[in-house]
Amino acid sequence: MNNNPSEPTAERVWAALRGVIDPELGENVVDLGMVASVDVTRDGVVDIGLALTIAECPLRDQIEGDTRRRALSLPGVNEVFVHTTAMTKRQRAELMSRAREKARERAEPTQVSPTTRVIAVSSGKGGVGKSSVSVNLAIAIKNLGFRVGLMDADIWGFSVPRLLGITARMEADDVTRLIIPVEAHGLKVVSTGLIIDSEETALMWRGLMLAKALEQFLKQVDWGDLDYLVIDMPPGTGDIQMALSRMLPQAEMVVVTTPQRASQKVAARIADMARRSHMPIVGVIENMSGFDCGHGTVHHLFGQGGGQELADGIGVPLLATVPLDMRVVEGGDRGRPVAGEMPLYGAALAFAETAELLVQLVPPAQDETCTGRLAKLLEGLAQSGQDWDSLAALTT
Ligand SMILES: Nc1ncnc2c1ncn2[C@@H]1O[C@H](COP(=O)(O)OP(=O)(O)O)[C@@H](O)[C@H]1O
Ligand SMILES: [Mg+2]
Repeated sequence: MNNNPSEPTAERVWAALRGVIDPELGENVVDLGMVASVDVTRDGVVDIGLALTIAECPLRDQIEGDTRRRALSLPGVNEVFVHTTAMTKRQRAELMSRAREKARERAEPTQVSPTTRVIAVSSGKGGVGKSSVSVNLAIAIKNLGFRVGLMDADIWGFSVPRLLGITARMEADDVTRLIIPVEAHGLKVVSTGLIIDSEETALMWRGLMLAKALEQFLKQVDWGDLDYLVIDMPPGTGDIQMALSRMLPQAEMVVVTTPQRASQKVAARIADMARRSHMPIVGVIENMSGFDCGHGTVHHLFGQGGGQELADGIGVPLLATVPLDMRVVEGGDRGRPVAGEMPLYGAALAFAETAELLVQLVPPAQDETCTGRLAKLLEGLAQSGQDWDSLAALTT
């Protein structure tokens, strides 16, 4: 048994792969029996065998990519090979029944669908523009035609309501007792800043909520069907991050930084947190980059190269450099984020391009393909009182 935490073992890879969710079945690929083999060689090379329901499944790239990123997020892993095979009919039928079983026994269900892609916008420290990036990125993803939720996990330092100009407050549904997110700029928004605080009873409720706000936001909010949930994380790398990854195993992280040369410590801390929580880092966004004064000169007020340096330090791509742009500040003050304003230039253009890249790297789950359709068909037939096993044999 290898106890050195910086060296990868097959067990650690298996554990990390529990974070890879088959988007159609809403269950992790390990429990679904889709991981056929894991081999770790001594020099940090991992070889993973994946058995897919159908060889030409359109989700193949997505599952392969997720698998690779999860494994790469482990310390000491330098290279990952994923090879795929197609399941036999029998394996496929077993997988379907396992998926159904799993869905039922899932102990702590959140109101966030397992097929919702979760992007946690994080940073090593405050004031780097994390909230501005969260809000604008959420709007830019929505502008691509996706259903997007925005959760403000900065429980004490919330700023999302102000940035979106929200004056409404969240209410609970009388029947379901679930909190209804506030709709703003086409987003479903939840924040501690949106809790009623006028009445005394509401104050009590608020006290209760704040203590376990993150859990409440995931379990007691009627999120509905979302393609993406963007989360404005609190600064630093603490309990909230760990709690989030426990409750939303599909969460992935985007790290925001300034162009200022990051201290090695910040990079190390973020990388360490990502490893402990098995939360893969999709990439780094450098915010407050060069300022284009409009006369052909770009001023680097906050230094240069910090984003690339942090990305290199963690071993992930630099997704974008968002320029310093007064419209970000003005948009925030007016409650009209720049990403929703035309024409697209400066920071707004950068947010739009970042959204397009993110959607490619972390593609939305499509539920109208291969196993998803199969699952629905079987579910429908089973509900009509038919014997499931014989139907599985029929339809596979
Ligand atoms: N790209 C940008 N250009 C200009 N100002 C920005 C930019 N990004 C953020 N800001 C400003 O920086 C300040 C801090 O941003 P904020 O999003 O609240 O940071 P954080 O959430 O990391 O504390 C705000 O006043 C915001 O308007
Ligand atoms: Mg903030």
